[in-house]
Amino acid sequence: MKFHIITFGCQMNAGDSDWIARTLRARGWEEAPAAEADAVVVNTCSVRKKPEEKVYSLLGRLRELMQDRPGAFVAVGGCVAQQVGKGFFGRFPHVRLVFGTDGAAMAPQALERLAEQPGLRLSLLDFSEEYAPRERLWPDEKVTAPAFVTIMQGCDNFCAYCIVPHVRGRQKSRPAADVLAECREWLARGASEITLLGQNVNSYGQDASGDGTAFAELLHAVAGLPGLARLRFTTSHPKDIAPEVIRAFAELPNLAPRLHLPVQSGSDRILALMGRKYDRARYLDIVARLREARPDISLTTDFIVGFPTETEEDFAQTLSLMREAPFEASFSFLYNDRPGVRSLSIEPKVSDAIKGRRLVELQAGQERLTEEVYAGLVGRELEVVFAGQSRKDGPEGERSLAARDAHGRVVNVLVGDGPETTGDLTGTAARVTIVKAKKHSLIAKLPGAA
Ligand code: SAM
Ligand code: SF4
Ligand code: F3S
Repeated sequence: MKFHIITFGCQMNAGDSDWIARTLRARGWEEAPAAEADAVVVNTCSVRKKPEEKVYSLLGRLRELMQDRPGAFVAVGGCVAQQVGKGFFGRFPHVRLVFGTDGAAMAPQALERLAEQPGLRLSLLDFSEEYAPRERLWPDEKVTAPAFVTIMQGCDNFCAYCIVPHVRGRQKSRPAADVLAECREWLARGASEITLLGQNVNSYGQDASGDGTAFAELLHAVAGLPGLARLRFTTSHPKDIAPEVIRAFAELPNLAPRLHLPVQSGSDRILALMGRKYDRARYLDIVARLREARPDISLTTDFIVGFPTETEEDFAQTLSLMREAPFEASFSFLYNDRPGVRSLSIEPKVSDAIKGRRLVELQAGQERLTEEVYAGLVGRELEVVFAGQSRKDGPEGERSLAARDAHGRVVNVLVGDGPETTGDLTGTAARVTIVKAKKHSLIAKLPGAA
């Protein structure tokens, strides 16, 4: 059987897709382009309107692609599947499986059953009470890419704008022993970098499904595993970050000096309406303590622009917080009304024209900050880990290899055409010198290169 997976949304979805692909490969399935696949899995996101709409147009295109291959079918999973459920069956005859965010744990078995029984349709939409255990079948292959390990599902925060708790269910932590066993397995297979994933990792362990291990304890346990070069985690809610987690940035040398800490807004009035449960002063205090623990830490964030009732004054507060933090990079989103969330009834809404103008201004401000940080790195020596195949995109068309530094920055390393650099270096480390800063990436050369 051949399969193809298309993934929208956050790293939780990317992690789920990775696991489904790995489990199918271990069961003897092969990855293939969508046009040749017997089963196409679409892992969906409903956090904003756009990714949700893309699912419907994609399903239309897949129907055309499959019309001459009656055995081929589609499985729709993830957050839109959780929301729409069996509704997909009525509109799309080629959809034969819908699985929700907890149902993903059973998706590989369901795909096998569907391959054997052509008339069958299945739905896996129930939320489970506890973190749904997943089978750990491993294909016989060496791992060079960074590994993602999910440590919890769901979210209990119910921020006023956010659909995630509605589609991912309540927070359920995975037992620490299970997390550690999976991390050990990744390391034994060759991985040297692990990212721990959850919607709010800082409240790991603090739910009925947790085993009492706090997030800082989990970080120390994972960081201590032999062979782990870099440890990352995402996402963190500022209100739950414990002093022990901040201290971990000083104590654990293999904890990467980067933190994604979504702030959403710089205005206390808007933060209160959003139900974020911290204010600007508390957020900036966390930033100061993080920089004290790890002076070179790179901070990144998410902003929502145009939350209902946001005034020019509120927005000015967001701009000033961006500079005060300052953030090395940020993701900024236009506020979207989502079904079932509290902010649906908060009025007045901000017009599209005003939202659009504020977004442009915020992004231009962020670009200047990023450029400043990147320009300051020119001439510096950094350790990078190669992440992919070479591309011909050097300033004069030289061959370059994509890599990332410990801060997660994209570094394109100029390499010659010699055999030592055209082979697959994915996962190996090198020290490089930064020679040029671009808007969203850096260019570097290898030691000794001209
Ligand atoms: N759990 C993370 C957190 O607490 O920040 C990430 C949540 S969400 C998957 C990723 C980002 O999407 C959020 O940080 C927020 O900026 C954005 N987002 C969520 N709901 C949104 C909405 N209704 N409109 C626009 N952006 C939204
Ligand atoms: Fe959404 Fe808030 Fe939960 Fe993040 S913490 S997933 S923004 S409800
Ligand atoms: Fe999207 Fe679901 Fe993640 S809504 S952002 S895929 S949790």
